[in-house]
Amino acid sequence: MGSRAERAARHAILTAAESERVGRLVSRYGMRLGARRFVPAENLDEIVAVMRALNTAGMRGVTGLFDDHARTEADVARHEAEYARQIDRLAAERLEANVGLKLTHLGIHVDPDLMYAAAGRLLERAAGHGMRLRFDMEESDLVPATLALYRRLRADGRDNIGIVLQSYLRRSEDDLAELLPLGLNVRIVKGAYLEPAAVAYPDKRDVDAAYVRMVERCLEGAEFTAIATHDAAIVATAQAALRRRAVAPERFEFQMLYGIASGFQRRIVSDGYPLRIAAPYGPTWFAYLMRRLAERPANLAFFVRHAFTR
Ligand code: FDA
Repeated sequence: MGSRAERAARHAILTAAESERVGRLVSRYGMRLGARRFVPAENLDEIVAVMRALNTAGMRGVTGLFDDHARTEADVARHEAEYARQIDRLAAERLEANVGLKLTHLGIHVDPDLMYAAAGRLLERAAGHGMRLRFDMEESDLVPATLALYRRLRADGRDNIGIVLQSYLRRSEDDLAELLPLGLNVRIVKGAYLEPAAVAYPDKRDVDAAYVRMVERCLEGAEFTAIATHDAAIVATAQAALRRRAVAPERFEFQMLYGIASGFQRRIVSDGYPLRIAAPYGPTWFAYLMRRLAERPANLAFFVRHAFTR
């Protein structure tokens, strides 16, 4: 996306994200070099404090997990247990916060029935606390299985689940049109992974235009729309659409990532809009950090500066 130089930088950073060597180095020194700006917690106790501070500042929170993809049944059980701990703890602490699930943790590469069972148990648990969960959307080849699981769970009558659609994918507007009749709770994002032009718009203008169209469509027909972006122009367009359509505050919120555009976050809240901040934690925060750097290669300068001025 963006200029040719930006696209090249984004590609280089996302490619480095797949390197084990870079991963080891950043995991070892990254926190000291300033990764805490984006990854404020390393465990559940720390994330509880982060979520409490967000609530105090008038913001909602959402956490999640960074961990390796599940390759075995035991991996799925371990991740399910950690998500269950998150759900119980956020509820026990009476925080206005919920949990985003990654299906790569819950067995999308292992067995669809195992994943279905694990997701169903987590939804049941969350429902007991009056909490909604959301499936994050990962690489494009996982979209069909993610949407199939979502449909299967909705057909079971589980409705405390939301999904994410990525405006960079050519298929997403069709997916949205097909899903809207279900009564949809959806987060719209631009999309954070390295995708080929065959499946994703290479030009940022197309991604942004699709984003705005999708938000308009959701404000008209979705039960709940999470407008997840730090793009000031898109936020302003969305706010104008919200006013024009007089959308009730229970039907939408803005969402942003921890540590990004913090001044803008505070302004959205002081202007009276609901805002939720995402802050996952876990051992493999490296890939997440690299996606944040790829979105804005200037963040690399932040790291270098931090390394020399501590
Ligand atoms: P864009 O990248 O165009 O940036 C707009 C402006 O925002 C920039 O000009 C800059 O000012 C600021 N900005 C953006 N990123 C920044 C950064 N890293 N550092 C500093 N400033 C930055 N993706 C996905 O594929 N699946 C998912 O499930 C999710 N989930 C998700 C949840 C939430 C709550 C958010 C906010 C985002 C996601 N994403 C995601 C990530 C999303 O796809 C996208 O990569 C980022 O939000 C960045 O894109 P923007 O919409 O902010 O626009």
